[in-house]
Amino acid sequence: MTAIELGLIGTGWCGGIRAAAAADNPLVAGLHLAEIDPDRLAEVARATAARSATTDWRELLARPELAAVIISATPETTHYPMARAALEAGRHVFLEKPMAMALEEADALIALARARGLKFTIGYSQRFNPKYAYVRQCIADGTIGRPVSALVSRHITRGLGRKISARVKLSPAAMESTHDLDFLLWCLAPAQPVRVYSQVNYGAMRDAAGGADIPDLQWITVTLDSGLSFVVGGGWSLPPGYPNFSTTWIEVIGTEGALLVDDTHRDVVLNTMRDGMRLPMSTMPGESVGHVFGGPMAAETAHFIDAVARDRPVLVTAEEARRVMEVYIAADLSAETNEPVNLPLGNKLAATPAPGQA
Ligand SMILES: NC(=O)c1ccc[n+]([C@@H]2O[C@H](COP(=O)([O-])OP(=O)(O)OC[C@H]3O[C@@H](n4cnc5c(N)ncnc54)[C@H](O)[C@@H]3O)[C@@H](O)[C@H]2O)c1
Repeated sequence: MTAIELGLIGTGWCGGIRAAAAADNPLVAGLHLAEIDPDRLAEVARATAARSATTDWRELLARPELAAVIISATPETTHYPMARAALEAGRHVFLEKPMAMALEEADALIALARARGLKFTIGYSQRFNPKYAYVRQCIADGTIGRPVSALVSRHITRGLGRKISARVKLSPAAMESTHDLDFLLWCLAPAQPVRVYSQVNYGAMRDAAGGADIPDLQWITVTLDSGLSFVVGGGWSLPPGYPNFSTTWIEVIGTEGALLVDDTHRDVVLNTMRDGMRLPMSTMPGESVGHVFGGPMAAETAHFIDAVARDRPVLVTAEEARRVMEVYIAADLSAETNEPVNLPLGNKLAATPAPGQA
């Protein structure tokens, strides 16, 4: 096991968390940052004692000592070219979701990683949330018998919804429910998705965006080849509360038991004269709390570093992430056409715009 030199592109919200987690990790010998905002770059470089810092991500990739790169930049159109260049440069890659904008790009990245023998994983952080890992364990070890059905309903604040929907035209399925689709497909493997039906619901987001095609919420029903169907709902129009608040409710029904998981983050209430009631530690990635980190992103970052340094497998495979991508593209196609969509997509892809892409 050798401590690695690690690169990180994009030091915004998530990149900042990952940089801090990497800087604390004994398996990281040196951290190298790329960020186009010079003030943010300087701030994170100072906080993490980064070994190098640049505003040019290609300059970062040219550093021969780098073993691996984390890509946390936005807009999401940067993911494919950055990941491609990183893999071509022979670096192991951790890429935030979405892995690409089109399935062809995802396929190209997977082929490249395979051909070069490189680790390539996508940021489905909720797999590192202990509650979610517990659900998978209870299904895998038979505690609740044979799974019969499942539901995940997630909502985030409209401030975050606006941040996401303003920078790139991707739906709640692609940007939010993607986590929960990955989670349930991971739990229910080896069953594979064969059919998707989805509807979108309009309200505050379209009003606020002057009529732009941005739904508040998207419901997705997925049928697996085992016969099981599950429902995933993702909404991004909650009124402002705690910054980047996320609330999730999970139900998994099996033949011998059921799991009801409250991940609504109402367990810690802070009430101050200045801000009123707040729900701290309620974001999806989590946040640092003194000497610990509340949330899954730090553990996820450590897992990737560990996988590279010890040459261990990554938890989230690029092939799994590609399958999630196919499901949310099918969901967008279904919402657009009001018809169920069968998988695999094949030539049904025919460039139908997703909700929010008109
Ligand atoms: N896993 C999770 O829970 C989770 C949560 C939120 C966001 N995300 C994903 O993580 C990614 C980052 O989201 P965020 O909220 O941190 O975004 P952000 O906008 O806060 O940060 C992105 C950063 O990338 C920088 N950047 C843009 N172009 C760049 C370039 N060419 N070179 C270097 N830096 C560049 C920006 O200046 C910014 O600082 C998104 O793609 C999003 O889908 C994942």
